[in-house]
Amino acid sequence: MKLWGGRFTKETNALMEEYTASIGFDHKLASYDIEGSIAHVTMLGECGILTDHEADEIVEGLNKVQQKILAGEVTWNVSHEDIHMNIESLLKEEIGPLSGKLHTGRSRNDQVALDMRMYARDQVADLVDGLVHVQQALINQAIQNTKVVFPGYTHLQRAQPILFSHHMLAYVAMLQRDIERLQDSWKRINQLPLGAGALAGTTFPIDRDRVAELLGFEGLCENSLDAVSDRDFVVEFLSNGSLIITHLSRLCEELVLWSSQEFQFIELDDAFTTGSSMMPQKKNPDVAELVRGKTGRVYGNLIGMLTTLKALPLAYNKDMQEDKEGMFDTAETLSGALALFAPMIETMEVKEGVMRQAVTEDFSNATDLADYLVGKGVPFREAHAIVGETVLYCIEKGFYLLDLSLQEFRKFSEAVDDDVYHLLAPEQVVEARNVQGGTAYAQVMQQLFDAEKKIQAS
Ligand code: ARG
Repeated sequence: MKLWGGRFTKETNALMEEYTASIGFDHKLASYDIEGSIAHVTMLGECGILTDHEADEIVEGLNKVQQKILAGEVTWNVSHEDIHMNIESLLKEEIGPLSGKLHTGRSRNDQVALDMRMYARDQVADLVDGLVHVQQALINQAIQNTKVVFPGYTHLQRAQPILFSHHMLAYVAMLQRDIERLQDSWKRINQLPLGAGALAGTTFPIDRDRVAELLGFEGLCENSLDAVSDRDFVVEFLSNGSLIITHLSRLCEELVLWSSQEFQFIELDDAFTTGSSMMPQKKNPDVAELVRGKTGRVYGNLIGMLTTLKALPLAYNKDMQEDKEGMFDTAETLSGALALFAPMIETMEVKEGVMRQAVTEDFSNATDLADYLVGKGVPFREAHAIVGETVLYCIEKGFYLLDLSLQEFRKFSEAVDDDVYHLLAPEQVVEARNVQGGTAYAQVMQQLFDAEKKIQAS
């Protein structure tokens, strides 16, 4: 017999039952559902809607159900459709007809909104934790390689030499914003929907504030219609998740490039790479590739949820059951990625020699030659043209700027003197960018210090 079977005269179609059930995935909400029910029943008892004895017995029964679930003694039943009705029927097995009083003044609509908000809270906390670990790994790489110079790129063309630590800290900054976005979303997630009933509230004299207090919610969803139909917090989570994986994926792309034979800037640890079944020499950056690949499903979950919501009339609609799998999938995809990311970054070997070599075999000091000429009074546009011609000359000769004699420099501009050589050395090029946020050692150390301070506050 269905919990809602009263107005029905026929059996439900078996395929329909299977199709509409959510127990296959929403069983992940079991512990939240029970915690929410315990708070609800406690309040019902305190408000005199149930007797103290009834409330106590239901709470005890719910605790027993929880123990059975944790012990793996429960099989979920599709004919009970979802986690809420599965738990209610398990409660009935424990305490009999009294279980029927649990749902007084409540609907599955406000119940499921509550469960999802409780799930979201935990996921936000876990993700912040995971992000902090990745930040720490990036910071450790920055600390171990504070003075390592390597090429900075624009358009994936060598642009200007930078400190490797500066590059690591750029990702720390991205992840910091991700953390702050998650933390900011907390105040919107952490509002209690329970008490909204099916949509309009309830006739029972319940105390919503008390339930909020018991469950650690900062406030109440103010409008009962909104409380049961709002899934903004899911969209926000999926959107924040999408940005997180965007940032991870950009780093993944760099790790894949850097570990290639063509770059050889890093070597990923054996523990985070795989081999080829055919080619014995291969060491593949699978984790980085897969995180990059999983970006697709995380974006998909966001677009899927937005699309599901876009034309839903108020208030609850069954469509909203579709909020779960995407939410779970994004949360699990991200926590899996973050758990692997931290040790993968931590253990990667930075090949300082190869990086240093790279910046001596390019024209990434060309801007500095132009700036040097400006310092000697040449207008920047003119200096730009002079250096362009100098570079062209070098390319034809197979030289880099530092290979030129003073005489050769002077063919292009009389303003060049002996001091140009010191200025064009990669370390000096880096040091010269001593502006706030720039790549000079002192500036990067300041960024490192500031980043660590923020992380400690997270
Ligand atoms: N399984 C449902 C969901 O996830 C729970 C709420 C169902 N409410 C209802 N009136 N059918 O959305």
